[in-house]
Amino acid sequence: MHRPPGIAQTGQPAGSHHPPAIRGRAGLIGGLAALSGILFGLDTGVMSGALDLIAQEFTLSDLQRESIVAIMLLGAALGVMAAAWLSHTWGRKRTLVLTAGLFVIGPLLCAEASSFGTLLFARLLLGVATGATTFTTPLYIAEIADSGRRGTMILGYQLMISCGLLAAYVSDGLFSYFGVWRWMLGIVGFPGLVFMMGVMFLPPSPRWLLAQGRERDARRVLIELRGLPRLVMAERNAIMARLAARKDGIGNFMHDPNCRRAMWLAVGLQVAQQFSGINAVLYYAPYIIGLVGYSHYVQVWGPVGVGVINLLSTFVATFWVDRIGRRPMLIGGFAVMALAMAGQAMILAGGVPPMPGLRLVMGVCMLVFVAAFAFSAGPLAWLLCAEILPLRGREFGMACSTCANWIANMVVSATFLTGLEVLGAGWVLWVYAALNVVFMAMVALRVPETRGMTLEQIEAELMRGTKLRALGSNAPPEQH
Ligand code: GLC
Repeated sequence: MHRPPGIAQTGQPAGSHHPPAIRGRAGLIGGLAALSGILFGLDTGVMSGALDLIAQEFTLSDLQRESIVAIMLLGAALGVMAAAWLSHTWGRKRTLVLTAGLFVIGPLLCAEASSFGTLLFARLLLGVATGATTFTTPLYIAEIADSGRRGTMILGYQLMISCGLLAAYVSDGLFSYFGVWRWMLGIVGFPGLVFMMGVMFLPPSPRWLLAQGRERDARRVLIELRGLPRLVMAERNAIMARLAARKDGIGNFMHDPNCRRAMWLAVGLQVAQQFSGINAVLYYAPYIIGLVGYSHYVQVWGPVGVGVINLLSTFVATFWVDRIGRRPMLIGGFAVMALAMAGQAMILAGGVPPMPGLRLVMGVCMLVFVAAFAFSAGPLAWLLCAEILPLRGREFGMACSTCANWIANMVVSATFLTGLEVLGAGWVLWVYAALNVVFMAMVALRVPETRGMTLEQIEAELMRGTKLRALGSNAPPEQH
């Protein structure tokens, strides 16, 4: 099978012939990628089990419940913007160290919170940290890992988010027996501490050093990472050439209709990923399970089942993505999500809680929905964004699309419970089912297939406008 360099290339790890010290560095970088994904999953997932207990202690309304989930997502959107600026001016590594500090302080503040206000503030800080890593970690890895590992790392990142979510559900399940939400939220400071210690040992990004004119430091880091001076000079020259190309600037990027379209496509994919309704299911799983009349036991351990399905299905997707391609997976995924959502909507429209026999069907629909998401929009929105954004505007495009992902996530989480209250559970789920049909059509009409193409080929195709014009745009192609 033909695989492009730099995208989902899982063949020979380029570092395998390097001396142990260099392999050790590669391991550290892989570990950083893994940990930041796990922290993302942990910090977003942990609230699902803690929410009921917090609501009891502080006597919260539905609106306050939603705000405690949503404030973190608002923080994440702010974190992306702050990280985009900081990692440009101050450096990727320093931004990561600062972020790691918040991953330690946030959970401690949560655990100690004596008022609802303090808890909100602590969750906001954690959101800033989570959002900042979703921008800085992939950027840092892309700049520092050898090209053969990049695609794998993006898919691995989503796999680790699923691992983090599952770990959060298991930890919530265990601590729920003691009714201690403070431990649930506080314990995630520990992996934050490990992350902070790991990040301190990492070298600064050679690409950022070169952009700052720190030629000697950049070469030292490259020698440390790659070992062979011959490779180092070639890589240094390639980075300098890319930096020169990037000088075209964001202004030009936004004036180019094909670049603009690539950016809107990336934003659209991220918004679609969130408006599929995935996080309404993931963050409020115990609530929904309780709503349909399942016992407390199922409410506590049901989310673990959701987490396992999410993880397994993401794992399966990493094997299929280069075999069946992005478009069929996304179209199929949104179609199954629409059906599974419609199934749940139909059951809930009949009354809450539904007839006992239908409860099981409801549970199955929920699991099918999560499996379809994890097989399609979950990993593929992140992967496609990394593939389709042209190099000269990639940082800007990633900042905009990642920010859009968090804002959409916030809107879904901040309106879900109120929606259930105002419109009724059935209608809210019908809205999500309909949205999934819209996204299916959007992918069919607008998303190009990138399977088997190098980053350079994808960029050339998109810049020529052929794919996008073929998919419905009337704008004239760019002349190069
Ligand atoms: C994706 C989404 C995230 C969601 C996760 C579930 O990474 O961006 O919002 O919680 O998948 O696995």
